[in-house]
Amino acid sequence: MVVLEVNVLKNAACALLILITLSLPYPFASAQDIPHLEKKGDRFALVVDGKPFLMLGAQIGNSSSWPVSLPNAWVALEAMHVNTVEAPVYWEQVEPVHNTFDFTNVDLLVNQARAHHLRLVLLWFGTWKNGQNHYVPEWMKSDPKIYPREITAYGKLLDVMSPNSAANLEADKHAFTALMHHVREIDGARHTVIMIQVENESGSVGSIRDYSATAQQSFNSEIPADLASALHIRPATWAKAFGADADESFAAYSTAHYIGEVAKAGKAEYPLPMYCNVWIAYPVHALENRDRPSPGQEYPSGGPQQANISIWKAAAPSIDVLAPDFYSDDSALFREILATYHRADNPVFIPETHFGASFGRYFFYALGSGAIGFSPFGVDRPVTAVATANPEAAVDENRQPNPAENFALFAPMVDEIAQFNLQGKLQTAVEEKGSERQTLHFDEADAIISFGFPQSDGNVPPGTPQLQGRAMVAQLGPLEFLVAGFDASVSFSLSPTPSARNEQIEILRADEGMYIGGNWQMSRILNGDETDRGLNFHHGTQQAVRIRLHKLPLYDQEVRKLRQP
Ligand code: DGJ
Repeated sequence: MVVLEVNVLKNAACALLILITLSLPYPFASAQDIPHLEKKGDRFALVVDGKPFLMLGAQIGNSSSWPVSLPNAWVALEAMHVNTVEAPVYWEQVEPVHNTFDFTNVDLLVNQARAHHLRLVLLWFGTWKNGQNHYVPEWMKSDPKIYPREITAYGKLLDVMSPNSAANLEADKHAFTALMHHVREIDGARHTVIMIQVENESGSVGSIRDYSATAQQSFNSEIPADLASALHIRPATWAKAFGADADESFAAYSTAHYIGEVAKAGKAEYPLPMYCNVWIAYPVHALENRDRPSPGQEYPSGGPQQANISIWKAAAPSIDVLAPDFYSDDSALFREILATYHRADNPVFIPETHFGASFGRYFFYALGSGAIGFSPFGVDRPVTAVATANPEAAVDENRQPNPAENFALFAPMVDEIAQFNLQGKLQTAVEEKGSERQTLHFDEADAIISFGFPQSDGNVPPGTPQLQGRAMVAQLGPLEFLVAGFDASVSFSLSPTPSARNEQIEILRADEGMYIGGNWQMSRILNGDETDRGLNFHHGTQQAVRIRLHKLPLYDQEVRKLRQP
């Protein structure tokens, strides 16, 4: 009897707990637990389950989020040593009939990502995909009267939805909200899904802006007050406020505002970090047969390309990150893009790059500028397709493609690296033609990086034929460093300060090893040839080195005095 009463009480308490839990917006998870972005100085971190998370990512092909293609994708992802997969969610599949939703592919992605111990970034292929509307459902495509298209200056209907249509916006918001509701329900407690890409390379291909009647009316009116105040400009018509850039600025505002509203509605269901990937405006020398990059021709007009960042930041505050896709082997341009998108209001994130040899170096550049993630595109395409699209990817068979080589090295210590990066303790050096030797400055010591082997005394280092040298140095203490890299040697010298004149440094100990489960595990102590001319990192290495140095006087003053004439 007594036992029964206790059980009844227990059951009632349990039921109450379940009721309370189910009525919470995020079952079993406080708002702090939801993946979010944090900022420290000029560095950002994506925080997942309470810890900074560095995304070693890869994006699967556009048509790979299907039961038939996913098995192949997991194999490719495993070979890449990624910790995160970026995978598309197709509006046309999710809402095949207006207001009827099918999340089987989303469930499959989430369940299979979990089974492979990977995090997941969902890419919402909604109103925009590469500046066009190819993923909107049939019921929208076939009804341009209700769901209007963007219209060119000559009246042509484009395969781009009008960003100035309330019906289009409502339809996208409705579907995206349903998606985020579903993600919260299946994953609010697990955090397999850590970020959402809202649309894909938005903007319009085919016209600089929408010339529909609705658009024309807005274009001839004053610019919105929020934009004027954010940009510190006087209210005026678009033409007066932006002059020659009025058409694209108008496109940028309408596109950003639309996508910002979609993101805001989705966040009301489940506030995961949200970003927009960018089809950047490539400079003239990177364009084929064109004399200038014209909006709507060489890149989608109105997307978050370099010149539109301020408008986007003002018009789409619910978008946390503007994240450039990078498809060029011009590394100077890559550095420029990193600098452009690394802003006080924007973390660095590279959601797409080629899957080729030169991009191994770009990971190190991105890491050095504090990136929260880096992700080559199309990793599950057949090898022949990759090689045709990008001959660079057909690398030496004895050598892994560089993104995989990078991720294999970084995967075990990724938590530590994310932490060092957020704390601003990490720097990288990347080989460039004519810069075979580089210096990274830390408070008390300089790290000198020399690229390529063999390195002979007194000569400049040889570099590598394909500019593969790259190194990372993180400061663990005043004179303690974690070092890793490829095709590089790293040595240390005292920073050239006045007090250093009577000081020198020497190695106390250099441990080769790796962080395993948060603890440093030394595999051997390096010395002799392995430290005398710097720490050597050949290609294919999967070990890091923790090096402790110390200072000692350069001269014994007594002996020196005796010897002085
Ligand atoms: C950039 C897009 O964002 C991807 O979805 C894909 O289409 C690639 N381009 C193809 O290179």
